[in-house]
Amino acid sequence: MATIKAAILGFGTVGQGIYHILNEKREELREKLGVELEVAKILVTDASRERVPGTKHLMTENIDDVFEETGLQVVFEAIVNEEPAYSYLKCAVENKCHVITANKVMFAKRGEELQALAKANGVFVGYEASVAGGVPIIKTMKNILLVNDVSRVQGILNGTTNYILTKMRAEGWSFEHALLEAQRLGYAEADPFNDVSGQDAFKKLMILSSLAFGEQPDWADVEVIGIDTISSEQVAAATEKGLRYRHVAEVEKREDGTIYGKVAPLLVDAEHPLYPVDDVFNAVAMETNYIGTLSITGPGAGMYPTASVMVEDYAEIIGKRAGFVVTI
Ligand code: NAP
Ligand code: HSE
Repeated sequence: MATIKAAILGFGTVGQGIYHILNEKREELREKLGVELEVAKILVTDASRERVPGTKHLMTENIDDVFEETGLQVVFEAIVNEEPAYSYLKCAVENKCHVITANKVMFAKRGEELQALAKANGVFVGYEASVAGGVPIIKTMKNILLVNDVSRVQGILNGTTNYILTKMRAEGWSFEHALLEAQRLGYAEADPFNDVSGQDAFKKLMILSSLAFGEQPDWADVEVIGIDTISSEQVAAATEKGLRYRHVAEVEKREDGTIYGKVAPLLVDAEHPLYPVDDVFNAVAMETNYIGTLSITGPGAGMYPTASVMVEDYAEIIGKRAGFVVTI
């Protein structure tokens, strides 16, 4: 049986999740895909710390070790920031590797470029994990777009902020306590300012805009307001009135062809579809011409939901390469 060699760039919450799922599902994946997968290298910034027992011999701090691995075919990327992530993935696709990324900071800005480069090199880019964690919004939207036009996308795109707002309301926690807990649970970004300021939801919105409309609004024109502006007193006052704060991102293509985007807190009442979406959950509603409005909800962050959709991307890519559709 053929072996596919893979590398994992980044071995924090998401990278470790990928490793665990690949191990736990090894036999099933081998049976379904007809290939053995071997994790050959893991890139970190500090290789002296063994995060998962039995992985020390795979770890390196040097990207050259990754690309010098003979027969490397797949690169999972779960590091942070635009660079060096983009340069690493560019190098990977130029070396004819399929790439699967969770990195929305990089993909919002460089995703279109990376996909064009991958196409020219005959390899695939999986980016399901870059938006809404375990919610399969990318593959759902790609399918919808085969027949429908999407005119508007609205939703909760950040798990950390929804978790914080939920705990402030339902448990009476302070903002600081809820954020610490979101960090402990592996939901928050390495720099959680990205979550609470709305920048993380903004990047995800831009990725959805590229997919839905083939373009993004000018980033400078998109108003981005975080939840760091909301006090415990405001949350309590809203609860008294039967209202809930949600952090909502929306992008729409207007009739004149312009694209409008916004990220901001919104007070919703019990009739609003986002009212029951609590905890780390995300929800995305797409307005389409034939289906009408379609909504999809699920865990928006965390080790296993995120890593799971990355392994799904792997299965889909390997299935496509072999010319069949994989059903797990
Ligand atoms: P994390 O726990 O902070 O882990 C990041 C990992 O990347 C660490 O292992 C770190 O190495 C490594 N790293 C960072 N910069 C590096 C560099 N320049 N070179 C080599 N290694 C580098 O982060 P995470 O939560 O797993 O998130 C990883 C990515 O997935 C981010 O882009 C994030 O936005 C995205 N994401 C996260 C989630 C989630 O729920 N956490 C969900 C969806 C998408 P050290 O261990 O040596 O520090
Ligand atoms: N920090 C992000 C969130 C991770 O809380 O939504 C998932 O992209």
